[in-house]
Amino acid sequence: MKQLTGNELRKLFLDFFASKDHLIQSSYSLIPENDPSLLLIGAGMAPFKPFFTGKVKPPHPRIVTSQKCVRTGDIENVGRTARHHTFFEMLGNFSFGDYFKKEAIAWAWEFLTEYLELPKDKLWITIHTGDDEAFAIWHDDIKIPADRIIRMEENFWEIGPGPCGPCSEIHIDLGEERGCGKPDCAVGCNCDRYLEIWNLVFTQFDRDEAGNYTPLAKKNIDTGAGLERIASVLQSKRSNFETDLLFPIIEYAAKVAGVTYGKAARTDVSLKVIADHGRSMTVMIGDGVLPSNEGRGYVLRRILRRAVRHGRLMGIEKPFLTDIVDVVANIFAQAYPDITGKKSYIKKVIQLEEERFHTTLAQGMELLNKHVQELAPTGQSMLDGATAFKLYDTFGFPWELTEEILSENNMTLDKAGFDQAMAEQRERARSARQESEEKIEIPDLSGLVTEGLCHNPDATNAKIVLILKEGKIVEEAFDGDEVAVILDSTPFHAEGGGQVGDTGFVATSLGKMAINNTRKLPDGTTYQIGQIAEGLLKTGDTVKLEVDVARRRHIARNHTATHLLHAALKEVLGSHVNQAGSSVDSNRLRFDFTHFAPVTAEQLAEVETIVNDVILNNTSVGIIETTQDLAKEMGAMALFGEKYGERVRVVLVDGFSRELCGGTHVGATAEIGLFKIVSEAGIGAGMRRIEAVTGYGAHEYLKAQNELVKEAAAALKSRPEEIVARIDGLNGRVRELEKEISALHTKLAKNEVQDLLTGVKEVNGVQVVIGQVAAPDMENLRATGDMLRDRLQSGVVVLGAINGEKVNFIAMATPDCVKKGIHAGNIIKATANAAGGGGGGRPDMAQAGGKQPEKLSEALQIAEQIIKSQLQ
Ligand code: ALA
Repeated sequence: MKQLTGNELRKLFLDFFASKDHLIQSSYSLIPENDPSLLLIGAGMAPFKPFFTGKVKPPHPRIVTSQKCVRTGDIENVGRTARHHTFFEMLGNFSFGDYFKKEAIAWAWEFLTEYLELPKDKLWITIHTGDDEAFAIWHDDIKIPADRIIRMEENFWEIGPGPCGPCSEIHIDLGEERGCGKPDCAVGCNCDRYLEIWNLVFTQFDRDEAGNYTPLAKKNIDTGAGLERIASVLQSKRSNFETDLLFPIIEYAAKVAGVTYGKAARTDVSLKVIADHGRSMTVMIGDGVLPSNEGRGYVLRRILRRAVRHGRLMGIEKPFLTDIVDVVANIFAQAYPDITGKKSYIKKVIQLEEERFHTTLAQGMELLNKHVQELAPTGQSMLDGATAFKLYDTFGFPWELTEEILSENNMTLDKAGFDQAMAEQRERARSARQESEEKIEIPDLSGLVTEGLCHNPDATNAKIVLILKEGKIVEEAFDGDEVAVILDSTPFHAEGGGQVGDTGFVATSLGKMAINNTRKLPDGTTYQIGQIAEGLLKTGDTVKLEVDVARRRHIARNHTATHLLHAALKEVLGSHVNQAGSSVDSNRLRFDFTHFAPVTAEQLAEVETIVNDVILNNTSVGIIETTQDLAKEMGAMALFGEKYGERVRVVLVDGFSRELCGGTHVGATAEIGLFKIVSEAGIGAGMRRIEAVTGYGAHEYLKAQNELVKEAAAALKSRPEEIVARIDGLNGRVRELEKEISALHTKLAKNEVQDLLTGVKEVNGVQVVIGQVAAPDMENLRATGDMLRDRLQSGVVVLGAINGEKVNFIAMATPDCVKKGIHAGNIIKATANAAGGGGGGRPDMAQAGGKQPEKLSEALQIAEQIIKSQLQ
């Protein structure tokens, strides 16, 4: 067996495959490019997905790499086994539609047995259950005995959506003394005896998001061999951690902690965790990941804080992680020399995050220990979600860390409760964000030197002059903080004159802030409002500026269109039209104006046409700064109630509109594209409001309208141009049917009257008719009642009818019956009451409604009782 260092092994692998006509490529960044399905690169093949699927042509059909990888699925196992890592290097050779199984297997075998001189009789092979082709190659060509080729159902490799396929793994038997001793210990056992060193994937499918497997046009090869694992074998070490790729970090951490490696299992685990996590955090930050509460930033935060805690477990109370960067940079000096160049940056990021966690770690641990001690005697073993959330939110404990600490105490975490608390907090944050602009308190900034602060639309970099958080000036702000910042030079346009403020980002390599709005202080100084999205920002930092330019263009279109609308309204409705308010954002414009009559459809159409004419003329839009007097002389429209300074800004649309305005505008009117009014309405005495859309917004609006017409046409089973005629036809038919129904009702009512007359009751000498009829509404019910009463000539009528979810009642009495004591109003009151309603009326005629149609017959029985009592 060869004795090789990690560096030698990596180089030998790359050179071996270069000799087989492979192009050596250096490792890709851990941050995937154009692959939202992955947080971090976790396999050598991940950057090559488009080559496998054939979407992009590779620079060469054969490539070999040693790829930086991060996987966190097994993070709990890190330090507890000899072979698990979050960061590792994967050696891989790839064929894009070139060679396939035969070569891949033969070369893997050649490299392992001839270049590394691994003992052939210690190597075991696994293949996919149905892969007879792989079996034949291993058995017939390579001469592996059949009993050392194991078929396994799980030998199918995939990583999220993308290229995948059956695979064949090579394991090495490290000897019985490394095993678990269980009688069924074999290849695939979780213990450390059989170590998987290489996975050969026969990539022949493309898996989509829905889980469908489509065969690829060409067959490919993707292999992955763990550098650290093979190094441990070649260096005869009991674990990856003792190889030269990790051990220097263990030595460093042991020194800081004042412990000796190999003395106690507990400290060994912590040392290994620190070694693994130390490499992960260094490489991740070097590749541009910053700690945050989301996505890959959260992965980094979790790894880093876990390392801090393991330091604590060994008694390290002070920050100690930054010096690990030197050790890691040294290990990787040959493979990833860029880390050396970025050392001070990486250290800074680690230092800030570590300090931040340290300040709350002790308090958080105290809280958690208290809960653990309280829970233990009660026999309960689950920590509630709210406490776990407090640890996360207030003390910065990734929930997985809390769970891990609990599991060390044989306890669990109420994850559902935690998720619930998290969801509630997100909701609070969301509504707080909406209000946050209101809540950013601006303290007395009279001391602020505003000289030299400027608005510069072309600025790409600026210095942070001031940070405000919760009404106070602070030196620095961390991710999650809601802050306002003042820059020495800003391209962000502040909200004003009805126009919303700019949004975008400001960022350094150590932090990023999302700008959600831009405003002005009373003295005119611009400030940006938003939230730190990643890392931290400090006063004095030079930040890169990134305005959301596309959004601003939408705003500019809407703003210039507002000026055109204003002028066109004056032209069509008269010079009394004045702007009373306006609101311009990226989606639409709203314009309120004075006018004392409704705007007719024709006038509105004319306004729209005039504005679109100016747009199609592509008139240039000019902006000049001048004095108020000169502006007035030019005839520029000023807004009522607006205060203007001595110098004013005039926006000119040649020959059409001149307005005093500080907003953002297009350069020429054709940029607006199209102007479409979507609504017009009165909003108060003499005040009207128009809402309109432009550009992409107008296109979207018209598209939606068009869809609506298509849907309506489909529902009417007609062509779009026939809709109106079809609706007219349907309306005529509806009217006819209504007439028919009405005639049928009258007929029905007559029949009902006939039936009811056969059931006339005599109560104390008075004829009484009580019953349910089918009258569809009160009017019909009354008509039936009238008919009955007329036919009776003398008597009392009480009728009920169900009308949808309601029930209607009427009661009527002829005058002679009223004289005998009948009161229709009182009858109806009690009757309707019994069916969940109320009402009353005159002694001879009353009507009412009820909400419980199911009580109708019960109610009619009550009517009969009341009549009886009235006649006693
Ligand atoms: N892509 C394969 C793996 O990661 C080689 O195991």
